[in-house]
Formats: sequence, C-alpha cells, structure tokens
Amino acid sequence: MKSVLSGVQPTGDLHIGNYFGAIQNWVRLQDNYECRYCVVDYHSMTMPYNAVQLRENTWNMVFQLLACGVKPENLFIQSLVPEHTELGWILNCVTSYGELQRMTQFKDKSDQLKETDGDAFISVGLFDYPVLQAADILIYHADYVPVGKDQEQHLELSRNIAQRFNNQFGKEYFIHPEPLFTETPKILSPADPNRKMSKSLGEKHYINLFGEEERVRKQIKSAVTDTGDTPAGEMSAGVKNLFELMRACGNMEAHNSLMEDYKSGSLRYSDLKEHTANTLIGLITPFRERLADLKADKRAVKQQIQESSAIVRQRAQRTMQEVRELTGLASLK
Ligand code: AMP
Ligand code: TRP
Repeated sequence: MKSVLSGVQPTGDLHIGNYFGAIQNWVRLQDNYECRYCVVDYHSMTMPYNAVQLRENTWNMVFQLLACGVKPENLFIQSLVPEHTELGWILNCVTSYGELQRMTQFKDKSDQLKETDGDAFISVGLFDYPVLQAADILIYHADYVPVGKDQEQHLELSRNIAQRFNNQFGKEYFIHPEPLFTETPKILSPADPNRKMSKSLGEKHYINLFGEEERVRKQIKSAVTDTGDTPAGEMSAGVKNLFELMRACGNMEAHNSLMEDYKSGSLRYSDLKEHTANTLIGLITPFRERLADLKADKRAVKQQIQESSAIVRQRAQRTMQEVRELTGLASLK
C-alpha cells in the first residue's frame, strides 16, 4: 500500500482554505492509503510565539482535525517523535545554503516580520524550516504529500534532498515524494481576492472552519466581487473564488445554475453570495457539533493521540537506525 504524510502548523483555528486546499484530501485519502498526519509544533517555533499558547494550539488543532474526519490512529504530534529533528540535522548536511535562500515562504515570512519591526529577530529555524519538513516526509518514506499549492516548492526541495542523500550514500534509500493537490489548491481571501486566504493577513481575510453561522454569512456577504482590475470578458478573481467554494463543497447544482446565469449576464452577486453562504454553513455546522462532542472528553482524546504518536515513533526509529548505519554515525553495537 502506498503511503501518505502531511502536516499542519498549530496556528489557532483552521480556515476553509486549509480545509479545501489540504484537509479535505487528508480525510479522503484515508480509505486507500496508509496515512500519517501530524501537527507540526516544532515548525511553529520558527516564528515568535508563546509557550503556553503553543501547547494549547497544538491540542486545539488535534481536536479540529479529528472533527474534520481525520482518524485518531492516523494522527500524531510532531514533537512526540523527536527523531524528525535528528533526521533534520542529517539532511541539513546534504542541503545547500543557496537552495534554502530561494524558498519563497522564507522570504514572505521574514518580510512579514520585518514589516512589523525593522529590527525583527529572524531565526535560523525559520530559514531551516523546509529541511525539517523534508525530514517529516522522508522519515516515513512517504509516496504522497497532500498539501496546498503554496507548498509545491518545499516538496520539490524534499525530492532534491532525497536525491542528494541517495547519491552521497550510494543507495536509492529515500523515495521521491510527490505532492497531491485538490481541485481547489488555492482559496483566496474574501476581502482581497488577489491574495490567498491566510490567517496572517488578519481577521477579515479568512473564514474560520468552525466559525459561527452569522459571522460566515457576514463575511461572504461583504466578499469583494469586483476589484476593478479584471480584463473585459473575464470573470473577476472574487467571483471565481465564490464559484470555487461552491464547487469544493460539492454543491454542483447551485454552481451550474448560477454559472448559466453568469454566462447569460443575468447573475446577481447577492444570489451567488447567498447560495455560497448557505452551502458553506451546511458544510461547517456538523464540524462545529463534532468538535463540541470531542471536547466533552478531552482526556480520552489526548491519551489516544499520545498512543498513536508512540506507535508512529517506532516507524521513525526504524528509519533512523538505517540512516545512522548509512551515514557513518557511531553505533552501540
Ligand atoms: P498552514 O496553515 O499554512 O500550515 O497550511 C496548512 C495547509 O493548508 C497546507 O497544506 C497549505 O498548503 C494549505 N493552505 C493554506 N492556505 C491555503 C489557501 N488559501 N488555499 C488552499 N490551501 C491552503
Ligand atoms: N510547511 C507546511 C505548511 O506551512 C506544514 C508542514 C510541515 C508540512 N511539515 C510538513 C506539510 C510535511 C506537509 C508535509 O503548511
């Protein structure tokens, strides 16, 4: 059976961009692949953070992923498998400085820090982030990595790192992981459809997957439909985004009928928004209810995830034994 690995940072709440870009795929893939999904708390240490908040956010993310339909036996917490960092160190030594300098996520995140404070502290961890990500994937010999489009460059780097390791140690040891995208790999911000939906842009730029009905309705209602820079005869990015959301939710009936209206020039944006809001609310209401159920017995859920992390760790330890052997590190034998 082919295997799948993916990770998400414990950044507070999931938004619908995370869901349609990645998590929806995580849930579906569980039927046909050996899947491992992790909450990547080590990665969240690369930006300024608060220790109490990090631990809280990590568990929060666990609950949210379970509420979306990720199976508890497939879910673990990255830092409960510290071998990821050990492999990360080894992979650092087959990754070039120049390669990491080309990573756009590093540029974006360091620019973002500098924007808020010209003397902002930018850690080596932030620079090195994609190598740890490669370790997350390679340590399980994962074939596929379901992610949003923004992670394409990191996946390409993971393949280069695998190749360089194999060349250096004379064996086709690591396989080359491939990304898996959904049909909606990039959901845009409702407030600025020229940018991708992201929490870091601020409150109005993302729709919380567990959000209250009224707020979701309001956000869709005020979604920007016309940015004024769309060439004549083309659908604007904002309108396209609303159609995409409806398609991602599987409401093809409303999608197709409104698309007919669009083509004939009779589409009313208020109708499009109302249908989109109703469709989204239909999707997220059961998620919110499941989350409340899961939170009713937090201890049981935590124990389950600690156990699944321990099982996953055994697999990672097996890889590390082989890697230590291949790379010439000392052994106790
Ligand atoms: P992050 O919250 O950045 O750790 O992202 C978690 C997952 O959601 C990653 O696989 C991202 O590629 C994906 N993702 C984040 N934002 C979006 C978006 N606006 N559209 C589609 N996918 C996204
Ligand atoms: N870098 C990913 C993001 O920002 C999160 C991540 C960390 C990840 N490790 C991973 C994704 C391994 C896929 C596989 O969203």
